[in-house]
Amino acid sequence: MSVAEMVSNRIAADGLAVTAIENVKVTDLVAEYGTPLWVISSNQIRDNFSELAEAAQTLQPFEIAYSIKANNNRSVLETMRACGALVDCSSEWELKIALAAGVPGSAIILNGNGKSESYLQVAVDAGVRQINVDSLKEVQRLEDLAQQADREVDCVVRVKLSYRELLAVDPSYERTLRVAEAKFGSSIVNGDADRTIDAIAQSERLNFRGLSHHAGFAGYRANYTPDNQLLHVRECAREMAAYATVLRGRGTEVERLDVGGGLRSGRNVLLSTPGDGADVALHPLPTAEDYIKAIAAGITAGWAGDNRPLVQFETGGFQVANAVSLITTVQDVKETEHPTPRRFITVDSAMTMFTSRGSSRVGYPVAVAGDRADDRYESVPVEVVGPTCAYDSIAEDILLPRVEPGDLLMLMNQGAYAEVTSTQFNAFPRPAVVIVDGKHSHLVRRRETLEDIVSREVSAS
Ligand SMILES: Cc1ncc(COP(=O)(O)O)c(C=O)c1O
Repeated sequence: MSVAEMVSNRIAADGLAVTAIENVKVTDLVAEYGTPLWVISSNQIRDNFSELAEAAQTLQPFEIAYSIKANNNRSVLETMRACGALVDCSSEWELKIALAAGVPGSAIILNGNGKSESYLQVAVDAGVRQINVDSLKEVQRLEDLAQQADREVDCVVRVKLSYRELLAVDPSYERTLRVAEAKFGSSIVNGDADRTIDAIAQSERLNFRGLSHHAGFAGYRANYTPDNQLLHVRECAREMAAYATVLRGRGTEVERLDVGGGLRSGRNVLLSTPGDGADVALHPLPTAEDYIKAIAAGITAGWAGDNRPLVQFETGGFQVANAVSLITTVQDVKETEHPTPRRFITVDSAMTMFTSRGSSRVGYPVAVAGDRADDRYESVPVEVVGPTCAYDSIAEDILLPRVEPGDLLMLMNQGAYAEVTSTQFNAFPRPAVVIVDGKHSHLVRRRETLEDIVSREVSAS
């Protein structure tokens, strides 16, 4: 099986060369839209949603929200909505994007720490399905806004767990929890969670509905393995469910358990820290079924009582990671001898178009694309680099056929946290975005222009 097929079942490959996305030839896409070009496979998004929804049947009742932060393209949002997904927003602007796309407030879950008053105001006015309240201070602010708007607001409390048993098994989590997770939520250890929940219960306009926690994708951790990821997910679900049991013992009903996201689609993920090489290493991902089993095991271990909670998922990466590819053209090929023999392939896309490569260790499998089947080439070790002055390593020390300027490459798994983390360094315009559906393609975000890049300039003279 080729790398392309291991990453996405919607990419057609001839040997190692990618020839089509769904039923649209790569060469036709390039002729019509140019490169660099992000191509979304709508059927891959639908496949991903069905895979998770089918696996989750054992957890009924459940609902799946799409985390718009992973990819905020409207066509992705519309495809997810057509599948039946709710939408998870983490900023005022994501909320406004969702509302502008016609998503009703009743289908929106709101997240974020340090939520601004204007963010909460838009949410209250829109009548969102639930606000995942982060802190006690937020309760008072929200109660005031709900009073003014004469509305009731359903609240779920984001909890910070003790992670005690997780740390006992894997002490190296301490740094992750301290740096990445500790700022979120109200702590169940120091009593903040109790205080936040009590304040909601005592308020006039706010209704306490349940608990939330997001374990997150652990790929950025040096000791990533699918089993570690599943342990993290299971343990967080268990601890949250156990806290729900404590609350119910005190007479506070917990209807919803929002388990967040943290899953990635495809069979493998490429992980490496730029500068460390080893881009050849594809790490297996947990399947949707593994993930659901871990959540179910955690909830069963922590939950007491006959009624079942509504389990809510907020998945971003799982819905889109393997549904987007970036097609790029080889600009130059250079052989160097010093300090070590190397073949550099410079392409017309740059790491600035997906800073996620540097910030989260996620790499993007590279394949030759277009009509030229790779069996005509001998594979050689190469560095794939972009043209910017940044540390612009797209793929380090990988084996690739002997491509020449003008040939096409494809970077796969570009759907989650790639375009949304892009920058304008060196004033490189961001690529256009196209969505493919069967044999049709549609431009859904035009290529950035120089005018876009300078459009916020204000003359000081
Ligand atoms: C609260 C919350 N929910 C959901 C997600 C989506 O995570 P993922 O894309 O890993 O599924 C995130 C990601 O940061 C998050 O912070």
